[in-house]
Amino acid sequence: MIFLGIETSCDETAIALVDQDRNILANAVYSQIEEHSTYGGVVPEIAARAHLTKLPALLDKTLSNTSVKLSDLSAVCATAGPGLIGGVLVGLNFGKALAFSLGLPFYGINHLAGHALAVRLTQEVAFPYVLLLVSGGHTQLICVHSSGTFEVLGTTRDDAAGETFDKTAKLLGLSHPGGPAIETLAKQGDHKAYNFPKPFYREQHCDFSFSGLKTAVRKSVLENPNADKASIAASFQHTMAEILFERSATAIQNCRERNISPSAFVISGGVGANSYIRAHLTKLEEKFEISCIFPPMNLCTDNAAMIAWACIEQASASVIAPSYEVKAYPRWPLDQYLRGENK
Ligand code: KG4
Ligand code: ZN
Repeated sequence: MIFLGIETSCDETAIALVDQDRNILANAVYSQIEEHSTYGGVVPEIAARAHLTKLPALLDKTLSNTSVKLSDLSAVCATAGPGLIGGVLVGLNFGKALAFSLGLPFYGINHLAGHALAVRLTQEVAFPYVLLLVSGGHTQLICVHSSGTFEVLGTTRDDAAGETFDKTAKLLGLSHPGGPAIETLAKQGDHKAYNFPKPFYREQHCDFSFSGLKTAVRKSVLENPNADKASIAASFQHTMAEILFERSATAIQNCRERNISPSAFVISGGVGANSYIRAHLTKLEEKFEISCIFPPMNLCTDNAAMIAWACIEQASASVIAPSYEVKAYPRWPLDQYLRGENK
């Protein structure tokens, strides 16, 4: 059974082919970085138009690079939310039209469920596991109990971690997206040079807040325009790593106190591609005797293989059903699955 997945919720146009035996037959991603670079961030209208322009050619390219034909497909699925609504609508309707024209079932998939289950596409990770989802739009600690039971342990009360990387990069005069630019610059700096704040440090909940960190960086730049930007970047990245470590530790502890034994700690989302943060989080292994699992970088950032895989997992567990009626959702919290609302 081969599933074709489509992802268009932000600034990556992506199509993938995945089968139920965990084979990724194709995983094509067109990144719109150039389209948005002059604006210093993702412009929703430009993103939606670029998805519309790129999807047909990307489908042709994806198929021509494999021996898979449209007639080999068993189902089509697309991200139905959460995300930038224009882009989600483009991918969703493209997927529905493709499925309808081929007489195939169509599924609308939750983008966050895609990130949450991506790790199981390449490794046998047993439920439950603790997931740190850190992307441009989301920062959440989740206990993944099953392919349809996501318990949100904590979330950000203001900015997302990736958004904080992007805004800090802008302050430092770096290019968009900010995460990779900060990671590169930080290599030349001293991470001990600045002592930035860590909100909620040692508090017993799993929520995040990054606005104080962002403001502290802004103050350092404004107070001293000649400040060593590499050291600001390194100190910022180090503080971010410490915050993510400390909150993740609280989440693992929270599960154990409730007699839930997570099989692993997993990181997903664009910020999970940061090597410094990955290395820092690996210290959880020793502290909790738990294995830290990092999916391959190309499955951490936005991609359609994770959408196709979430569809395979959720459809086979009857968490979702095929429908051409599925709508696009700008917000679609994962814990709605828990409450049985699923939208
Ligand atoms: O998951 P993703 O590709 O898209 C969303 O669903 O948001 O995440 C994009 C975010 C951006 O904010 C980007 O700056 C950040 O992930 N990011 C990084 C790195 N690579 C991407 N942040 C820190 N270090 C990186 N190496
Ligand atoms: Zn994402």
